[in-house]
Amino acid sequence: MKDTAPFLNRLRKNFRHWGKWARKRGIQCYRLYDRDIPEFPLAVDLYGDRAHLQEYWRGGEADARDRGAWIAAIREAAAQALEMPASRMVIKRRERQRGTDQYEKTGARGEDFVVAEGGHRFVVNLEAYLDTGLFLDHRLTRAMVGERAAGRRFLNLFCYTGSFTVYAAAGGATESLSVDLSNTYLDWAKRNLQLNGLDPGRHRLLRADATPFLADASGRGERFDLIVLDPPSFSNSKRMRNLLDVQRDHPALIAGCMALLAPGGELFFSTNLRRFRPDADALSSWQVENISERTIPEDFRNRRIHHCYRVTRRVASAGRV
Ligand SMILES: C[S@@+](CC[C@H](N)C(=O)[O-])C[C@H]1O[C@@H](n2cnc3c(N)ncnc32)[C@H](O)[C@@H]1O
Repeated sequence: MKDTAPFLNRLRKNFRHWGKWARKRGIQCYRLYDRDIPEFPLAVDLYGDRAHLQEYWRGGEADARDRGAWIAAIREAAAQALEMPASRMVIKRRERQRGTDQYEKTGARGEDFVVAEGGHRFVVNLEAYLDTGLFLDHRLTRAMVGERAAGRRFLNLFCYTGSFTVYAAAGGATESLSVDLSNTYLDWAKRNLQLNGLDPGRHRLLRADATPFLADASGRGERFDLIVLDPPSFSNSKRMRNLLDVQRDHPALIAGCMALLAPGGELFFSTNLRRFRPDADALSSWQVENISERTIPEDFRNRRIHHCYRVTRRVASAGRV
């Protein structure tokens, strides 16, 4: 088995550097290690005083026999580098998912706890699901949405645990609607809104499949001034009519959102699909600005963690994608 010393040393060095960086900015949750050494393909994130380690597994069961020992060694190295008891760490294997719903349960119940970000509070759980409840690569996007929400009607599609909604509502959105297919995540979003003292009468949660929702809402004449569209790369939940594939379906999703956008409104569309390519022809009716460089936080060294676009109605002589 590989010697874990290079991983331990790098993690310790990163903890010093990024710890200082985070303290200066009042950030509690951040990415500490981002596959910095190719032989140790992990992401290590800090959530308050706990650590979330994800191992990017590239297939092949050749090493399966050694796996238990390998995980134990990684845990030990991380515990030393972060000076944290191993009991406050969770290690997960992140396999490449294709055509399946990524939001699976892990089988563990885990423990819910609260972290702070941008002056707001969020419930996270490092064990129960593959994801934690708060995607750290969207820290800056959330702040951007919060800053633009005052006096606006906000729509959060594929809202997950409602973190964008918390920012928008706290930022002064007059009302909001958060849509997701999963009752589990809508409950979680409700807890996040409650935790931040936000009015459930003005900030509604709706269980719906996003694609038919868009058509129905347009038919009802609903309008929003600020929309976040952050779909999963793929989804084929049993409760959906059709499989969702963001590369194939983004023009239709964006068109559906643009139909709901009030004059002067803006849409933020984001995807974590690494190889995503916007379909310039299909999107040519709108002004599409790639803002990923502004929305990917410094602590994410992988600059392809997400692609983010600001979409607005065209003004005369504006450029294309
Ligand atoms: C990529 S996450 C969204 C991330 C979120 N915007 C954030 O940054 O916190 C995916 C979410 O989409 C939801 N979802 C998947 N397919 C859906 C569909 N067809 N309609 C509505 N929600 C869906 C899942 O339940 C999950 O909560």
